[in-house]
Amino acid sequence: MNITIAGAGYVGLITAVCLSRKGQNITLTDIDENKITMLQKQEAPIFENGLSEMLHEYGGKMIFTTVPEQAYGRADIVMLAVPTPDRRDGSANLKYLYEACGQVASHCAKGCLVVVKSTVPVGTCDKIEHFFNDRTLSGLFRVASNPEFLAQGTAIQDTLHPARIIIGAENEAVAQEVQEIYNGFNSDFVVTDRRSAEMIKYASNDFLAMKISYINEIANLCEIVGADVETVSLGMGLDPRIGQQYLRPGTGYGGSCFPKDTKALHWLARFHDYELKTIKATIEVNETQKIRLFKKAKKYYKSFKGVTIAVLGLAFKPGTDDLREAPSIEVIQLLAEEGAVIRAWDPATGNRFAKQYPDLAITCQSLDEALCGAELCLIMTEWDEVRSCKPEKFADLMKAPLVIDGRNCYTPHSFVNSGVLYDSIGRKAVK
Ligand code: UGA
Repeated sequence: MNITIAGAGYVGLITAVCLSRKGQNITLTDIDENKITMLQKQEAPIFENGLSEMLHEYGGKMIFTTVPEQAYGRADIVMLAVPTPDRRDGSANLKYLYEACGQVASHCAKGCLVVVKSTVPVGTCDKIEHFFNDRTLSGLFRVASNPEFLAQGTAIQDTLHPARIIIGAENEAVAQEVQEIYNGFNSDFVVTDRRSAEMIKYASNDFLAMKISYINEIANLCEIVGADVETVSLGMGLDPRIGQQYLRPGTGYGGSCFPKDTKALHWLARFHDYELKTIKATIEVNETQKIRLFKKAKKYYKSFKGVTIAVLGLAFKPGTDDLREAPSIEVIQLLAEEGAVIRAWDPATGNRFAKQYPDLAITCQSLDEALCGAELCLIMTEWDEVRSCKPEKFADLMKAPLVIDGRNCYTPHSFVNSGVLYDSIGRKAVK
């Protein structure tokens, strides 16, 4: 069975190496020549735990190509993992998806099974089927939905040990074909129709986003009424109906998925004249939460003009170098507009940040360097290096130590008598 995966981004590349490890014949194709050249040399074009090692081990068995004939000519199965970015109005842009389908239709003369892994609006697989039927012999191309649930930082583990594999197909034979891709995976399968499969992906991501916005609002209320959100979260999560995960309060969710997928589902509902109120609120809460640290800092400073501020962590979460929709960017932009001098540090994405935003901040090579001489420190990403930093370090290196921790990396208790004023999310400030 020859499987071609279109799109060498997170989903495509990780799926490719994991399926190769399970013994499948994999061809990975992308329009980006640089990515493919790197992959041909078994170099990882993205930052992901364990990916370099996997490429080193299985890259030699795989074909990497930008040439459509080579990619699709012999394919029995094509898995589409191309990006579906959001447009200004929140709807998903399916340009890359249809371009890839066009290439498949032109170069796979014998027909094949087309498996949609990209996150797409409900009803897209039906449209893709029409697309193929309009251009080729009807029924030559079968279309199935198989959404992806990997998270950055744990992508390989998530793919090798999925909590579930969702298959959306219009008949049993096609569902069976998709299931065979995952021979050797120990996972629950949910086989359903294509529209339900497409909806499971959005409903899952949006539910997790909603859980985060919910705990962030509870955290904000905890600050007002004098409760401790960490204990509230723990107490809630012990109820198995609620669960511990995605109840960590912070500076709002970021990345390439939750922000895009909440907007896309909200847009889709509106398109069908339905208002998805829970998701609308989730998005609104997140927008405010993303600048929560800026607002907190404002309580301590009338003006930021000339104030030196250390920002620890830039990536939208630890374990990735991804800056997309990272709350740090918005906060830094607001502080810079008000004349603050920002010393930013991130162990994975510092250089990328410096290239993308050369005028916003001084990018430091170490956490210590960022803290040196700062009056205020904002913690935006919970990297291990930040978590293991001792209160004395802030006291020693900073000029007037005020730490505002957007990820609750420490207990307020650890700062008592340290000479550092410590503020966090959903807990009382301490000195
Ligand atoms: C997310 C989902 O977790 C994956 O299942 C899904 O496959 C993926 O989107 C996708 O659609 O491709 P990812 O965006 O990599 O994965 O990141 P998460 O680990 O889910 O975190 C998303 C954001 O939520 C981060 O900014 C993180 O800091 C924030 N978060 C997460 C919280 O603020 N609190 C929490 O308790 C958990």
